[in-house]
Order: sequence, then C-alpha cells, then structure tokens
Amino acid sequence: MFTILSGTAHPDLAAAVARELGTPLGKSHVERFPDGELSVRLEETVRGREVFIIQPTSPPVNDHLVELLAFADACRRDSAGLTAAVVPYFGYARSDRRNRRREPITASMVAALLQCAGIERVLTIDLHTPQVEGFFHIPVDSLSAVPALCDAVRDRLPLGDAVVVSPDAGRVSMATDYADRLGLPLVVLHKRRVSGADTKITHRVGDVRGRTCLIVDDMIATGGTLVESAEALHEAGAHPDLFVAATHGLLLGTATEDLLSAGVRELYVTDTVAPSGRLHPSVHVVAVGPLLASAIRRDLGGESFQELYEQAARSRAGRRRRASSADVS
Ligand code: R5P
Repeated sequence: MFTILSGTAHPDLAAAVARELGTPLGKSHVERFPDGELSVRLEETVRGREVFIIQPTSPPVNDHLVELLAFADACRRDSAGLTAAVVPYFGYARSDRRNRRREPITASMVAALLQCAGIERVLTIDLHTPQVEGFFHIPVDSLSAVPALCDAVRDRLPLGDAVVVSPDAGRVSMATDYADRLGLPLVVLHKRRVSGADTKITHRVGDVRGRTCLIVDDMIATGGTLVESAEALHEAGAHPDLFVAATHGLLLGTATEDLLSAGVRELYVTDTVAPSGRLHPSVHVVAVGPLLASAIRRDLGGESFQELYEQAARSRAGRRRRASSADVS
C-alpha cells in the first residue's frame, strides 16, 4: 500500500510518476496565508502506507523546502508507514562545504531538517556532489539522468569531431560518464567562482580546435558558468555551434537567451524542475518520470536498485563498443 503525494513545486512530474505507477495522486491541499505562512492538509489517510512526496526544492527554494517539511510532518502525524522525499532537484546542494570562515553548510542543515520532520528515505537525481549523501543518516539514492540525456543528444552530435566538455573540475566525473557513453574525447575547463553569479575560466585541458563541443553540467541556474565556458571554447578555436546537456534546467532570468547568444545551438535538460515559462524551441526536455517511477517500483517491491544502475552501465558498454575509436585528451 503506497501513496504518491505532490507538493506545489512540480505537480506535472508527480502526475507523470503516479501515471507510470498506475495509481492516482494522493489528495492534499496547500494554501498560503496572507502573512506568507503555509498550510498543508492531507485529504486522505496515509496511515500505515509508504508515502512518496514528490517535491523538487526548486525556486522559490525556501517555500518549496518548507512545504516538503510540512508534508513530511503531516505524514508522520497521520502514522504513515514510511515517508520518503522524492526530491529530483535538491536545492542548497551546492552549499556542501565552507568556502570561507563564518559560513554555514546549508546542505547539511537541510538534510537535518528533512530527517527531523520525519523523512526516512530520499530519492534524488544527479546530486550536485556525492558527499551530500553523507549529511543524511537515512538511505539516499541519487539516480543519474546522464543515460537519458545521452540518448537524447547522441544523434544530434557529429560523432567524428565532437568532444565532451566539463565546465569545471567538479564536473569531471559526470563529463567522463558522458564521454564514455558517447565514445567521445573529454576536455576539462577550470573555473574560478568570483561571486554567486560570476565565474571565470582560467585553464583548459584538451584540444577543441574545429571541434563541436557538448558542454555538460549538473545544473543551469543563471547560465553564467556555461556562457563563460562557451567564450573560453570559442577563444580556443572550437566550432561556433555548441551543444549543452544539463540535468537541472532552472534557466533563471535570461539564461536561455544568454546561452543562445553565446553560440549554444541546442540545449538538453530534464524535467526535474518545472519550466518557469514557455521554453525556447532550442531547449529539449527529457522526462525523468519513468526513471523515478522505476526506482519507486523497485523500492516498493524490495528490489535492489543495482539492476537500474547495471542496465545503464550495460547500455553504456554496448555503445562504447559501437563507437568509433576516440581518445580521451
Ligand atoms: C557549479 O558548481 C555547478 O555545477 C553549476 O556549474 C553552476 O551552479 C551553474 O550555475 P550558473 O548557471 O548560475 O552558473
């Protein structure tokens, strides 16, 4: 017996997951009072049931986070059998260490809050850094959207002369996964963050002259990182047309327009966060509902997630065999 609940962050994704699992969404009501306070009410019992609350902590991050906490508390007070948070995009994950003295580690604080509110399991996608899992004392599964994004972009790239680009040192592992799956060489940029919204590329490892670049990242917020990367790649002689793949397409403000002006021809993201408006035709969205539903199904059936990961690894190995010989720079 299980229930899928949706917060207000991404009802379309929650509905897609429920549809995949062949169950209606659990009924709930969320209301915001004039003073900004939030009221959450479950409109059906979850007593003894396994509950999956689907809520990316996307902008407005704090509102969506408090809503998730309120849902968790409501489930616990209604004696849910198990309460799991399905947080496809985990906000505050970038605050996973102190860069300077007198700073908080907000990702750790969020982990503590979720557990304090009664969350007993977390399902997420492409967590910014794996060490965020260490802030929890409950099971955390971070699924990967990379196989699905590779499937979407593969046929669009000129495989003979394309390269995968990591925009910074922190993304090398993810970019290696892309390069491996697509059978392409890897190029690494080194980025220095000047402020929350300002970055600078200082070094590059690997040749991009005349190459079509696929820049990959876990998220696009302002687009600043990728615009900087695009400029650095063009300066190094890359093909003018660039491709981008990123799991979490927050695409704040003028991010899409800025990326297109910087030479990005096609942009691939997933629907871990709800689009904030009409998407430009160059933005392609890959659905993560089936991946989340598959993980929930396995969780409910007490099946290992290993097979989920192995399936992805098998398809990667098959593609590597088919790929033309490619060096890693
Ligand atoms: C940084 O470490 C992340 O992986 C992203 O590169 C970054 O947070 C994206 O943010 P923005 O689009 O604002 O540069």
